[in-house]
Amino acid sequence: MPHAKQATPIASGDPEPVRSENHMAREGKSENLVQAHPRSVLITGASSGIGRACAARMGREGWRVFATVRKERDARDLMDEGTPGLQTILLDVTDGDQVAEAAEAVGRQVGSGGLHGLVNNAGIAVGGLLEYLDTAELRRVLETNTIAPLTVTKAFIPLLRRAKGRIVMMSSMSGFSSTPLVSPYCASKFALEALTDGLRLELWPWGIDVVSVQPGAINTVIWDKARSYVEEKLQNYPADAFEKYGPLLASVPETLAGQRGVEAEEVARTVSRALTTARPRNRYLVGRDAQLRRWIERLPTSLRDRIVLSRMPKYGQERT
Ligand SMILES: NC(=O)c1ccc[n+]([C@@H]2O[C@H](COP(=O)([O-])OP(=O)(O)OC[C@H]3O[C@@H](n4cnc5c(N)ncnc54)[C@H](OP(=O)(O)O)[C@@H]3O)[C@@H](O)[C@H]2O)c1
Repeated sequence: MPHAKQATPIASGDPEPVRSENHMAREGKSENLVQAHPRSVLITGASSGIGRACAARMGREGWRVFATVRKERDARDLMDEGTPGLQTILLDVTDGDQVAEAAEAVGRQVGSGGLHGLVNNAGIAVGGLLEYLDTAELRRVLETNTIAPLTVTKAFIPLLRRAKGRIVMMSSMSGFSSTPLVSPYCASKFALEALTDGLRLELWPWGIDVVSVQPGAINTVIWDKARSYVEEKLQNYPADAFEKYGPLLASVPETLAGQRGVEAEEVARTVSRALTTARPRNRYLVGRDAQLRRWIERLPTSLRDRIVLSRMPKYGQERT
């Protein structure tokens, strides 16, 4: 079972250079020494995509990076990249005990210096037609994308307070724009936005900034995973679902098209800026599609709806 105690316990205020336990074990305790007391950041969901790009970037920029993954194999892959200052923590963000253990382990390492950054990045995409959605699936996506970031944040607030650290929530343009077939995912990101606003105001007195990053389509595997998931669910839809929603369902491959959009590195650059700039913005959009979507959402709803439906040419053209 994944275990957060894999993080290296280093005494608080340890004047020695910090070493990654994984590096030490695999490289004969000789290499990968990192400067003592650099700024530290914890990034969830670093096995692939945006989280992985953020971990690599922050490590290159000299941060001490706690990169969380769920599988041993992913931890090894990440360590193989040789990013300086990076160590892995096994963590399922929906497991409260693991989150508490991770906070304890990181706390032992950063000591009185505290944690300078928390990037709540781990997430999943769940889609499908709302009429046929198993509500357990809605709970699952809310659990991972909305409740878990709050659980993780709560656990790390004491460490962030010590460093006047910053929190980055990996939201999405789906956090302000909900469209057919992906609205369960959108619901989770809308709710994340609400928590982000609440945290930003509640943590303001301590100088802890809370920032939302809202990427458009990013070239990662998340949409491939979502498409396979929806296509599997489609097998269990009743036949009349296809009669009613045929043209919309036919758009699944395009709506959930994988491997498109800008590179994850662009989001990593934005996260780095959000963590380091003197006065961070409350929200950062990433990608032209996110900008365009923002603009569309400011139109009157009836016009906005027509634009969204017009992108599904064989659907929503006439009402019965
Ligand atoms: N790609 C886009 O177009 C896009 C756009 C806007 C926002 N985002 C957001 O960006 C974030 C990262 O997504 P991505 O595109 O980089 O997708 P990704 O490559 O699929 O990465 C998702 C990461 O989250 C991890 N994760 C999922 N459930 C978890 C759990 N219960 N506990 C711990 N880790 C968990 C995954 O770990 P495993 O490998 O173990 O599954 C993986 O490391 C998500 O929050 C997503 O909503 C993505």
